[in-house]
Amino acid sequence: MRIFTNLAVFASAAVVFQAFFTPSSQFVQYKRNRIESTFLQSWRDYVSNGWDADVYRPLSKKGSYMYGSTEKPLGWIIVDSIDSMFLMYNSSAHHREEFKAEILRVEHWIKTKLDYDIDVSVSLFETTIRMLGGLLSAYYLSDLLGVGNSTLYLEKATDLADRMLPAFHHENAKIPYSSVNLHTGESRKNHVDMGSSSTAEFTTLQLEFKYLSAITGDVKYWKEVEKVYKPLYEENNLIDRYDGLVPIYTNPDTARFWGNNIRLGSRGDSFYEYLLKQYLQSDEHLYYELYRESIEGVKRHLISRSKPNGLVYIGEKENGLNGGLSSKMDHLVCFMGGLIAMGATEGWPITEARKQNFWDAEREEDWNLAQDLTYTCYQMYHQIPSGLSPEIVVFNDGLNGETGSWWQSREGDFFVKPADAHNLQRPETVESLMFLYHLTKDSKYRDWGWEIFQSFKIHSGVQCKYTDSECAYTCLKNVLANPPTRSDNVESFWYAETLKYLHLLFQDNVDLRSMVFNTEAHPFPVITPEQTQNGALLNTGWELA
Ligand SMILES: *[C@@H]1O[C@H](CO)[C@@H](O)[C@H](O)[C@H]1NC(C)=O
Ligand SMILES: *[C@@H]1O[C@H](CO)[C@@H](O)[C@H](O)[C@H]1NC(C)=O
Repeated sequence: MRIFTNLAVFASAAVVFQAFFTPSSQFVQYKRNRIESTFLQSWRDYVSNGWDADVYRPLSKKGSYMYGSTEKPLGWIIVDSIDSMFLMYNSSAHHREEFKAEILRVEHWIKTKLDYDIDVSVSLFETTIRMLGGLLSAYYLSDLLGVGNSTLYLEKATDLADRMLPAFHHENAKIPYSSVNLHTGESRKNHVDMGSSSTAEFTTLQLEFKYLSAITGDVKYWKEVEKVYKPLYEENNLIDRYDGLVPIYTNPDTARFWGNNIRLGSRGDSFYEYLLKQYLQSDEHLYYELYRESIEGVKRHLISRSKPNGLVYIGEKENGLNGGLSSKMDHLVCFMGGLIAMGATEGWPITEARKQNFWDAEREEDWNLAQDLTYTCYQMYHQIPSGLSPEIVVFNDGLNGETGSWWQSREGDFFVKPADAHNLQRPETVESLMFLYHLTKDSKYRDWGWEIFQSFKIHSGVQCKYTDSECAYTCLKNVLANPPTRSDNVESFWYAETLKYLHLLFQDNVDLRSMVFNTEAHPFPVITPEQTQNGALLNTGWELA
């Protein structure tokens, strides 16, 4: 409590000081510099105490491999973190050489130690978004910025993709199974949920494999990942029967949905994200149409407002479209503000977007929704005692029933159940702030992001020295307490996403029309016909019946 107050006073004194004596661009540079230092502290703690582990515990300083029995690392944290270092290297005023040294450290490790010939079954989805995505964007940025050896990243990415590809041609299955053995290529069904694949998982592989096709000129990756959509849409009559919304489980053999649970949180989220992003990546209009159907479905069925202040939220339909709306919302859903803003503007600043031929009433409505959702997600931090969002909130819809043991926000708009009060340093809210800032240049988005960053610094920073030279960052068990209790783990997306999006929020020239971020925040360039070596072959390989 005391620390928080003192720092808040110090921070506002700094604002006054900075406003008087330095141009605002220098103050922005100061904030970017603070985020870079935080990245470097957290990264160095890992390098010193957990190097090359896939799982790292910052409190006990212990690391382990995800598949310990093989004694082979997957590069879970390392590969996920590289492109954040490339981006920070590029725009840093004070730490360029340090970032460069770290990039070269990682590159040497990849060259000498990383070997994906591992006889274990890995998650097709997680390995694609984190490892394949991380290697591909390292390839892109290494080449673009002229640091390191981009060929090395591409070679590793291609090797990993080839090891996962057998998952797509499993006999008798229309949809890939959820895991694949990197040595044998054998794929396996999920061992829970009746063998179902998560709907968001097999529909969140496309950006990565399509980009690989564009770089290598080999269409096989593109063709394989696209095959999932035709059966998914047609077997389920997805547009007419589901209004573009998807239950979170799919039977991979039949491509039919399993169960009725519809939500934009875990297992549902990035289905919607990759529809839009495939359109932004490769200008395939079918995907924009499918995205549009889905967003209209979201507006029709899932949007509501809290009591008493009318915060806009996205609820869940646990019993299908005809069931009631549950007012529970995962923090994961907070990426939707940024996504819907990108869907409305296609990356043009809002004043420019409104002048484009594509602008219409639906997009104006999307744009308002995007801003409202982003505001709600900011409130999920701002109204919490520690300033950090819990994993899940339940909005006050006036019908919540027995809420005796639940914590209620000070203005009454949402509750937190005791089991949901943890924080995994997730990125989705700062992700949306980053998009909204660059589309509007409205400084309130930077102010909100800075407030969130300060809360992370104060509460998830541990063992910090006064000089700021040393600090580790860890997840939190209970954000309702101030200070919160801590847990002993750091997620790779803290490095890959949260700190990267915060850093991008404080960069000035982010062109959202030239790159697309995968669901793990790995940027890929937009694919143009000139960039593809085999342009004519890279096109949408299916249409709706
Ligand atoms: C690298 O930095 C320059 C100068 O700030 C900027 O214009 C460019 O967009 C940056 N590139 C990337 C990939 O961030
Ligand atoms: C870059 O890496 C590739 C692949 O490992 C290697 O063949 C090539 O010699 C390297 N280039 C340089 C300049 O080191």
